[in-house]
Amino acid sequence: MLQDEVAGYLAEIEAAPLQTPDALEAFRLRFLSRNGLVQGLFGRLKEVEPAQRKEMGQILNNLKNRAEETFATAKAAAEAAAEASTGPLLDLTLPPPPHALGSRHILNLVRDQMLAVFRQIGFAVADGPEIEDDWHNFTALNFPPDHPAREMQDTFFVERGGPGGDVVLRTHTSPVQIRVMQERQPPIRSLMPGRVYRNEAISARAHCLFHQIEGLYIDKDVSFVDLKETLYYFVRTFFSPETAIRFRPSFFPFTEPSAEIDISCQICHGDGCNICKHTGWVEIGGSGMVHPNVLRNSGIDPDVYTGFAFGMGVERSAMLKYQIRDLRLYTENDVRFLRQFAVV
Ligand code: PHE
Repeated sequence: MLQDEVAGYLAEIEAAPLQTPDALEAFRLRFLSRNGLVQGLFGRLKEVEPAQRKEMGQILNNLKNRAEETFATAKAAAEAAAEASTGPLLDLTLPPPPHALGSRHILNLVRDQMLAVFRQIGFAVADGPEIEDDWHNFTALNFPPDHPAREMQDTFFVERGGPGGDVVLRTHTSPVQIRVMQERQPPIRSLMPGRVYRNEAISARAHCLFHQIEGLYIDKDVSFVDLKETLYYFVRTFFSPETAIRFRPSFFPFTEPSAEIDISCQICHGDGCNICKHTGWVEIGGSGMVHPNVLRNSGIDPDVYTGFAFGMGVERSAMLKYQIRDLRLYTENDVRFLRQFAVV
């Protein structure tokens, strides 16, 4: 009788030794494969009296479930035991996995590209503190005592009215000009990269922390022509030979005359976009001939020497060169953004 056969198989299933992979495979072939016992029994259902077929079907289903459960449980147990006894497989002959190298941050990359352009024409890098006294950040740079740039809305104060005056987070890299001139006499060709801080709301176009590169050239007979040629050379080398440049008259307390440096928009090439505010021109920095008072304040004789200075934004230059439309991306540390810039 079919029923007796099934009872025998159920007993066999309960007793089956399923510790080894071979035993498991043998069990699977005997009971669960396409040509196995369980399928065979279902095929014989048609031999059963129609009145008993339903009951017999349930008995066979039960057999099938028992076989499947027993197999699954034994297989999981065998796998767990194998892993516990051998541990994860380790092949000591394989080369070690490569270390994932990060990419350089785009701002460091662009800063170094900018410095490299000026180094080729004899500029050397100098450094100064990010926490400055009022004298270096403002007074020595010819800012009158009540100049609005000294005010709370622009400047982060570290200490107000200390013995040496206010202590501030430098609002530009220009105070390093003073430090360089105090330390040595012309000829001076200095580049001063660094972080600067301004009390501004963070947006796509402004941040309270950004980077500038300051340039200073002091010697006998330095003229505005030297300033222009130096910046032409920079813009054509750093951006492209086709980039147009425009000097816009401006005012800084520490230079006279002063000019803002605009270049043709690298993003829309003059068609108009939100970066150039639909003018086709973008400002990349300020410049001018060093004011005689600044030379005098730093111990250099303005009757003998003249010079020019410029200050350029690193974020802005990177934005234009790599078509970045929101400068918050620089500090959000989204690796999908950061990874795009080559490891050098
Ligand atoms: N220090 C100025 C600024 O932060 C830029 C500048 C530097 C202008 C040197 C003229 C000369 O805006």
